[in-house]
Amino acid sequence: MTRELNDVVVIDAVRTAFGRAGEKGIFWNTRAEDLCVPLMKALIERNPGITPDMIEDSVWGVTNQVKEQGGTIGRMIPILAEWGWKIPGCSIDRMCASGLTAIGFSVSHIASGMADCLIAGGVEHMGHLPMGFMRDPHPRAEELLGGASAFNMGMTAENIHDRYPQFTKEMADEYARNCQEKADRAINAGKMKDMIIPIDVELADGTQLTADRDQQPRPGTTMEGLAGLKTPFREEGGRVTAGNASGLNDGAAVVLLMSATRAQELGIVPKMRWVASAVAGVDPTIMGIAPVPATEKALNKAGLTIADIDIIEINEAFSVQALYFLDHFGLRPDDPRVNQWGGAIAYGHPLAASGPRLVAFMCGLFKENPKARYGLTTMCVGRGQGYSIIWENAI
Ligand SMILES: CC(C)(COP(=O)(O)OP(=O)(O)OC[C@H]1O[C@@H](n2cnc3c(N)ncnc32)[C@H](O)[C@@H]1OP(=O)(O)O)[C@@H](O)C(=O)NCCC(=O)NCCS
Repeated sequence: MTRELNDVVVIDAVRTAFGRAGEKGIFWNTRAEDLCVPLMKALIERNPGITPDMIEDSVWGVTNQVKEQGGTIGRMIPILAEWGWKIPGCSIDRMCASGLTAIGFSVSHIASGMADCLIAGGVEHMGHLPMGFMRDPHPRAEELLGGASAFNMGMTAENIHDRYPQFTKEMADEYARNCQEKADRAINAGKMKDMIIPIDVELADGTQLTADRDQQPRPGTTMEGLAGLKTPFREEGGRVTAGNASGLNDGAAVVLLMSATRAQELGIVPKMRWVASAVAGVDPTIMGIAPVPATEKALNKAGLTIADIDIIEINEAFSVQALYFLDHFGLRPDDPRVNQWGGAIAYGHPLAASGPRLVAFMCGLFKENPKARYGLTTMCVGRGQGYSIIWENAI
C-alpha cells in the first residue's frame, strides 16, 4: 500500500508571559500544569469551529519530567482542563528542543495520517525544577560527552568562544543589546499581545497579578552595562554573562496543528504550513553550533537554500551560538530577517517552552510580512543537538 503524506498546517500558537525563575518570578506560586491549561482553553476559545473532542493527542515537551512536570504531564493537561478522559497525552524530552520536538512528532503523526488535529506544546518551570534537578548521569557520561563542560550550557558557550575566537565578547554583547532593543520595540508596538494569554497569579508576597507581560526583557541595556557584568561560567577571561545569555525562566507555549484537509473542511484559514524538519548531533561541548547542521539538513530536505528563507527565528541560548550560526550562513548579526522581535536573550528561555514560542513568533511574523514565503525555526540542545523546522506562510 503506498500513501502520500498529508499537508500539515499550524492553526494557532499561544504562550504564557515568560517569568523569571525563583521567588521573585511571577509564577513562583503557580504550578507548571496551571501554565498550560489556560493556553489549551484559549486555543479553543479563539478558534471557533474547534472543540476539545477533535484533539487526538496532547503532546507536550518538558525537559525535567519529575514532580509537577512528571507523571506524563501531557496527559494531565487536558484532564485538568476538564475535557474528560478521551484526549490522550504524552511528554517528550529533547532538553531545550523538547517543545519543538513535540511539534515535529505531531507533524509526523498528521503527515502520516495517524491524526488530523493535535496539540503540541512545551512547558518548563525552571524555578520549581532547576536545570539538572534530580539527574543522575551515567558514570561514563562525562568521558563520552567530551568533558565536564558538556553538562554546563554556559561553559559550552565559553568553549565556542575559545574554538572560534573571531566571535569576541564585544560582538556577543552587541548582539545582546540589539536583541533587547528589538524586543523592546516589538513589545511597545504590541506584538506580544495576540500571543500572550494572561493568567491570574499570586506572587510570593501574596500580591495578585495578571501575568500578561514577559518579566525578563531589560530595555535600556547598554554596551557599558553589559561590559561590566560578571562571567559566571569562567572567572578569568570569560565572555559569557547574564547579559549575553538567555535566562532561567518559567513559561509555557502551545501550537494547534491540523491536516490541511481537515482545516479546509472546517473552513479554518491556517497560519502556516510545515515544509521540512531535521535534527542533528554535534560535539556536546560546543552544543550551540548544532542549529547549523540541523538547518542544512532541513534545507536539503526542502530543496531550499538559506537565501530562500525570509524569516529566521533562532533560539538565542547564548549570543555566541547565534553569531556562529549567522556567520556560517553568511548573514550579518543585524540581518533584518533574523529574530525581528528579539529572541531568548531578551524574553528568556524556559527550555521546552521555547520551541513553541518560536513557532508563535513565526505565525505573527508571517502575518505581518505576507510577502515572506519561507521561515525557519531552529534551536540548539544540551548534550549536542540541533533541531530545525522550515515553514511556509499560509496567510
Ligand atoms: C547567566 C546566568 C547564570 C545569570 O543568572 P543570574 O545571576 O541569576 O542572572 P541575573 O538576571 O540576576 O543577572 C545577574 C546580574 O547581571 C545584571 N544584568 C543581567 N542582564 C543585564 C543587562 N542586559 N544589562 C545590564 N545588567 C544586566 C543583573 O542586573 C544582575 O545584576 P546584580 O547582580 O547587580 O543584581 C543564568 O541566567 C544562566 O544560567 N543562563 C543560562 C541558562 C541556560 O543554560 N539555558 C539553557 C541554554 S542551552
